[in-house]
Amino acid sequence: MDKNEEISKYAKLQYSSSTNLEKRQNLWTLGDNKVQLGTWIFHHLNLQEGEHVLELGCGKGMMWCENKDFLPNSIALTLTDFSLGMVSETQKNVDKVGISAEIYQMDAQNLVIPDNSMDLVVGCHMLYHVPNIPKSLSEIQRVLKPHGRFISTTTSVSHIQEIRDLLLQFDLDVTLKTKYFSPYHCEDAPGFLTPVFPLVEYFEYNNNIVLKDSVVLLPYIDSMFPLEKYPKYPEIRPQIVSKLAEIFQEQGKFHVTGKIGLFIAFKSDSVICK
Ligand SMILES: C[S@@+](CC[C@H](N)C(=O)[O-])C[C@H]1O[C@@H](n2cnc3c(N)ncnc32)[C@H](O)[C@@H]1O
Repeated sequence: MDKNEEISKYAKLQYSSSTNLEKRQNLWTLGDNKVQLGTWIFHHLNLQEGEHVLELGCGKGMMWCENKDFLPNSIALTLTDFSLGMVSETQKNVDKVGISAEIYQMDAQNLVIPDNSMDLVVGCHMLYHVPNIPKSLSEIQRVLKPHGRFISTTTSVSHIQEIRDLLLQFDLDVTLKTKYFSPYHCEDAPGFLTPVFPLVEYFEYNNNIVLKDSVVLLPYIDSMFPLEKYPKYPEIRPQIVSKLAEIFQEQGKFHVTGKIGLFIAFKSDSVICK
């Protein structure tokens, strides 16, 4: 299997349903930032009346459900994800809160969307799962209106560094990083965005955690290793459990760095504010 297939296969296994995503999101509720990440991102969307918005890799569609009271009335939402499981969860969630949206299964590398039709394209924590990032960015550029913008979030290389260091001791993280992800950390993103978009702005969100036990940390770690890709994980897991017990006994805590970047990339450098 070549690298692109590996990246795609891993993302498909990870996101056949929202279970893994939820385990990871639970951890961040324990951070020191009082503003939730979803609220912070939504604020940066700066939605205007009448805008047409496309989300790629929308997950469970929570960005829109959690902020439904702040959606301009006349907004047109198209929510997409390449996982059928996620698409059906999004449909259920938007129906529950009564938001009107078109929802489709779609690969961010092949957008079935007309040229020049979107004011805003959003891709949160998803481009690192896309094998061919330049192809996806050229699709985003194509579907944006002349003064449209693309908002992309991703993690810094220092994000969850402590968890990566722990896993490295068991030879786990190296494979994960080099084999199953595209290189789209905050530090890499400008290299992809600036050749395509003439104006790119950057914002940062920090949310650090000090854990006193491994109750939420272990499910987070488990979620990173789908059995199909890591058949040896159940053998290694008890060693991780003991290592964590040792850390908590000796140091009384485990620090986790949370560092997220948000990029606003404009299709034109002469941005017209409505
Ligand atoms: C980490 S989750 C983020 C979900 C959501 N955007 C959020 O921030 O909560 C990544 C999402 O990207 C989707 N995804 C992965 N590869 C994709 C692709 N090539 N095209 C579209 N969606 C993709 C996954 O199915 C998953 O729902």
